Amino acid sequence: MENTPHTKPRDSWTFSPEINAEIRRAAETGIYDIRGGGAKRRVPHFDDLLFLGASMSRYPLEGYREKCDTSVTLGTRFAKKPIELKIPVTIAGMSFGALSGPAKEALGRGATMAGTSTTTGDGGMTNEERGHSEKLVYQYLPSRYGMNPDDLRRADAIEIVVGQGAKPGGGGMLLGQKITERVAGMRNLPVGIDQRSACRHPDWTGPDDLEIKILEIREITNWEKPIYIKVGGARPYYDTALAVKAGADVVVLDGMQGGTAATQDVFIEHVGQPTLACIRPAVKALQDLGMHRKVQLVVSGGIRTGADVAKALALGADAVAIGTAALVALGENDPKWAAEYTKLGTTADAYDDWHEGKDPAGITTQDPELMKRLDPVEAARKLRNYLAVLTLECQTIARACGKSHVHNLEPEDLCALTIEAAAMAGVPLAGTSWIPGQGTF
Ligand SMILES: Cc1cc2nc3c(=O)[nH]c(=O)nc-3n(C[C@H](O)[C@H](O)[C@H](O)COP(=O)(O)O)c2cc1C
Repeated sequence: MENTPHTKPRDSWTFSPEINAEIRRAAETGIYDIRGGGAKRRVPHFDDLLFLGASMSRYPLEGYREKCDTSVTLGTRFAKKPIELKIPVTIAGMSFGALSGPAKEALGRGATMAGTSTTTGDGGMTNEERGHSEKLVYQYLPSRYGMNPDDLRRADAIEIVVGQGAKPGGGGMLLGQKITERVAGMRNLPVGIDQRSACRHPDWTGPDDLEIKILEIREITNWEKPIYIKVGGARPYYDTALAVKAGADVVVLDGMQGGTAATQDVFIEHVGQPTLACIRPAVKALQDLGMHRKVQLVVSGGIRTGADVAKALALGADAVAIGTAALVALGENDPKWAAEYTKLGTTADAYDDWHEGKDPAGITTQDPELMKRLDPVEAARKLRNYLAVLTLECQTIARACGKSHVHNLEPEDLCALTIEAAAMAGVPLAGTSWIPGQGTF
């Protein structure tokens, strides 16, 4: 019997061309896919929320004459010297090794010009970033690569990393091609050999041990520096509550869209909760403990615009942190290198092989020739501009909602476009007073 001819060939949703290509790639090589960046698939996001703005029942503020403050103080709970920022956007921890020295310098310069902090990462503190960052947060990571007590004292705040949104429960990776002599020297590693960072701290197994560790770090730093705890978006209510109990001054919460320098694709796309879904449970934990605004909450993972910043703040965050967007502002994934991305078998915007060290933009590389392509002063100028735009956009929205400080934005200023986003953000579905899933953290 003859087959009935189809009108047009149909791709399967389950076995899409993309999935089939990955099966063939896996079958050919026998290795899993590693890449940089954050989750690429669409998950409920800040874009699914809208601000209501002022109207009859609310009074907007005048842009030129009425102030809308954007300053943030982080670390008011115990630290003798909290961090004062002019804007509610900080630069997230990104490791030297993953990023080049000039890229770290550019982040420090740009953040300082904008009045905010930048953060070290796996692999220790470089002189470039300490020298150019007025406010530098020093990460204390499970790997302890590059960790030393002198650098704890040179920092302005300490961030104890428990997890990252791109890979909650997993450790970092730095492939051999990026382990130059300098990177190896700082990490006590052999040159050119793939490295996997530890996924958990070697000397503590839970919050009680963490409490002891925090006290130890406070002693080393004379109780001056704020201590942040960074967690990936896994169980935000309990993780936040436990971080507070362990003695954190600040909780940094990184959702699943959060970027990474190198992790398995399956991990990036399939582990963790969307950033949008993490904020309200974390804020609820702080409120239940009477600690909202006393222990500050910094949110990261997929933040790109001033609207994203304003929405995170309205849901209860004190500040946000950006990684990927800061790199793009410096010049990462720039179409001006289109021909080179083509040679690497990709496109400017899709390029995510940051682990390979061949970055045409000279940012996620240790190759001396590629690194020269980034002018840290010019890149810093762009980062400063971008941070200014984020802040102005956030401020514009806050004024339109009648707020004299961006922290006065609140869930009541928002509505959601989808039932999913309404449930995750705990705000009403647009056109209704319905908040699905309330009280179910
Ligand atoms: C190139 C790169 C390197 C990173 N290195 C670290 C690191 O060393 N330690 C860490 O805690 N997080 C690291 N992260 C994650 C960021 O701190 C942050 O959680 C994430 O980038 C936020 O999401 P976003 O990129 O969507 O802004 C890295 C991210 C990128 C993009």
